[in-house]
Amino acid sequence: MTTGGTCGQTGPMEPVVRRLRPEEAPAFRRSVMVPFLDPFAGDPDQIADLETSASKTELDRAWVVDTGDRFAGNGAIYSMDVTLPSAPGQACPTIPMAGVSAVGVHPTHRRRGFLRQLMAAMHADARNRGEAIAGLEASESVIYGRFGYGHAADVAEYSIDSRASAFAVPAPPIDLVLMDRDQALDVLPGIFDRQRRTRAGEVNRSPGYWTRLLADRPHRRGGLSASFHAVGDEGYVLYRATRETNVFQGDRATIVVEELRGDSPEVEAALWRFVLDLDLIGRVDVRRRPVDEPVRWRLADPRQLRTIGVEDRLYVRILDTVAAFETRGYQGEGRLVLDILAPDASEGSADEAPGRWVLDAGPDGASCRRAREGEGADLRLGLPAVGSLYMGGFPASLLAAGGRVEELRAGGLALADALLVTRPSPRSGTGF
Ligand SMILES: CC(C)(COP(=O)(O)OP(=O)(O)OC[C@H]1O[C@@H](n2cnc3c(N)ncnc32)[C@H](O)[C@@H]1OP(=O)(O)O)[C@@H](O)C(=O)NCCC(=O)NCCS
Repeated sequence: MTTGGTCGQTGPMEPVVRRLRPEEAPAFRRSVMVPFLDPFAGDPDQIADLETSASKTELDRAWVVDTGDRFAGNGAIYSMDVTLPSAPGQACPTIPMAGVSAVGVHPTHRRRGFLRQLMAAMHADARNRGEAIAGLEASESVIYGRFGYGHAADVAEYSIDSRASAFAVPAPPIDLVLMDRDQALDVLPGIFDRQRRTRAGEVNRSPGYWTRLLADRPHRRGGLSASFHAVGDEGYVLYRATRETNVFQGDRATIVVEELRGDSPEVEAALWRFVLDLDLIGRVDVRRRPVDEPVRWRLADPRQLRTIGVEDRLYVRILDTVAAFETRGYQGEGRLVLDILAPDASEGSADEAPGRWVLDAGPDGASCRRAREGEGADLRLGLPAVGSLYMGGFPASLLAAGGRVEELRAGGLALADALLVTRPSPRSGTGF
């Protein structure tokens, strides 16, 4: 018995999707590795990784495909929250989110409907707990639209030649301390949690996440140096350097910034300046940044900041339309009526998100209710498109241009753009 699953079972059994039992946690973690092409072989690095990830799993929110003598699939939810678009001048509100993760079906059992069953079980659990939205990061962007998820927030990576990085608008001075791991573990979570409320799309980080991030195990450094933690009162930057640079031959290191976060654009500009001015370097690569990177506008020569890539990170699925739309903030004002279509993988009457909804919203708050008889809709759209509009990063007019939103009343798209788009753009800077 590999999994400690259905003991006493004699002949082959039909695989079932069921909740994990607490004593099955080690088998669950090994099962998760299979679909992600990293089978457990007992290597010390794998064992160390499994130990650090153990603290992340919520054992009462994990599901498996049980074949009777082993697991052939898995999924789990992290009880998270995520920042939402704010009203003008306010910090971003947060909303509880079912963070869907560790989803996989083993190659021996794929395309038999187990993902569909896992998603239905996880959504039912999230609804029972009153989570108004679910969110995930998709390994393939084609998978989750059928379950109602829409692309909601990105991260960007930039690269710049540090010797061509003069600012036209100077950054303010900043005092930073180079902290060791234990000091960083003490201080960074507090700064992060304040800072993430400056943008929509940012999920919270559990203590387990911080432990894993700052453990900085050598096999996870990608051949780079150990991490530096440069920390100030209002922000921090975590960075590494390329190794094996021969300074005697004029080689210059590349700095890889894994995270740069400040409470304001001024603090972030000062953190950028700090890494750009490091000695012995020639290039700075900065990861997990927003798509609307403010530092571009500070550079004397903005073209030097090259965009290496933009990744679609957070996908959002609305579970409770009223709670979702009443919790976010609005920078515009108006009444919008949405005709929301059920996703392809229907969950029947359990799914209350589709239907015709009336949103009355403005800077002072919002109310959302089902439309009454005769109230016509402004826009018709699928549930994934609602997830995309909800975080405020993508205008309804853009989705309409892609055929994902239909304008039913002239002016509906302009109204939706004015009401729902948020600035700064959402960013999803934490993997889960
Ligand atoms: C993605 C994965 C979980 C799908 O599991 P599965 O049990 O084969 O999926 P299901 O049989 O329930 O499929 C449900 C539907 O999604 C479709 N689908 C599933 N995976 C797909 C993929 N990768 N590409 C395109 N369509 C996919 C199926 O064709 C099916 O469509 P239908 O409803 O029209 O028949 C599985 O292939 C896997 O584990 N992949 C590797 C790990 C991974 O990418 N996990 C997702 C992490 S975010």
